[in-house]
Amino acid sequence: MTKRVFSGIQPSGELHLGTLLGALDNWRRMQDEYDCYYCVVDLHAMTVPYDPVEFRRIRLETAKVILAAGIDPDRVLFYYQSQVPQHPELAWILGTITGLGQLQRMTQFKEKADKAGQNLGLLAYPVLMAADILVHKAHVVPVGDDQTQHLELTRDLAERFNGRFGEEFPIPERITPKIGARVMSLQDPLSKMSKSDPDPRSRILLTDDPDVIRKKVKVAVTDSERYVEYDRTRKPGISNLLEIMSFFSGRSIDDLVDQFHDSGYGVFKEAVAEAIIEGLAPLRTRYKELSDADVAHILQKGALDARQRAEETMVSVRRAVGLDSH
Ligand code: TYM
Repeated sequence: MTKRVFSGIQPSGELHLGTLLGALDNWRRMQDEYDCYYCVVDLHAMTVPYDPVEFRRIRLETAKVILAAGIDPDRVLFYYQSQVPQHPELAWILGTITGLGQLQRMTQFKEKADKAGQNLGLLAYPVLMAADILVHKAHVVPVGDDQTQHLELTRDLAERFNGRFGEEFPIPERITPKIGARVMSLQDPLSKMSKSDPDPRSRILLTDDPDVIRKKVKVAVTDSERYVEYDRTRKPGISNLLEIMSFFSGRSIDDLVDQFHDSGYGVFKEAVAEAIIEGLAPLRTRYKELSDADVAHILQKGALDARQRAEETMVSVRRAVGLDSH
């Protein structure tokens, strides 16, 4: 049997290098080998305050950039989470077997609740994420490092459900990349690069123009030393740039350190910027070719197929929990 893959991205801001290195690159690699379900998880993005007009724009924009990154709708199912009601239906059922304490301990809940205030959606966020994955009985979930705790909860809920109601779900495995599982902010290399950081210089967007990329890399925070060396604790800024360049150039970090060790940060940063610009060029071209109407059409078709597949799981889940019709 071909293994199934599920992953999602929130339409909560423009996509950046962290999304690409941490998740999207693996999405792209896996589409040949696996049965893939990829989703713009719009219901998740509603758990913090948002503006509906901007939300509508960013939802479509997120989908467009994902397609431009090389996700091929002929080989995967690609859709908006909100268009497949089986996701929230399963989330409700899983919510009934989730401990409140377990949710209150989630670091992302605590961080977001501190900033945006608590709401039930934010607390239930990881349960909906578990439902996303389990409604497609996914075996593998390609994500960045920051999703580890959520994936643990998903595995827990799958096991708990199977134990209580009978074998239903495979226990999904998390897949993270060797390089780029946690891309750091260019302005504060001790925090992760994030869509919601108020400083736009902290991240390089996948759709940034070459000149913008050059400027952002040039002003990236490093350290007061002179040598290019890889040490994530002592030199987090330079190490982050080394990882980014290694990803785009396909060269090992050792090889890059050999070349740039004594060249000075200015020369190294120029090379990093050029590697990013060249690496993102195909995405930029595809992005310009895609029309909003094409993207909307792809998403509609994806939702139709995803609903059918998710319904197969739900028929069996409803029967298992005693909700089947007589
Ligand atoms: P989101 O939208 O925050 O991020 C999308 C994906 O990008 C990864 N990522 C990063 N990787 C490395 N470095 C970074 N700086 C960085 N920033 C983001 C994330 O790990 C993620 O893989 N909860 C999820 C969305 C979600 C989901 C799911 C994922 C909802 N349901 C089911 C997988 C399966 C999230 O907030 O992703």
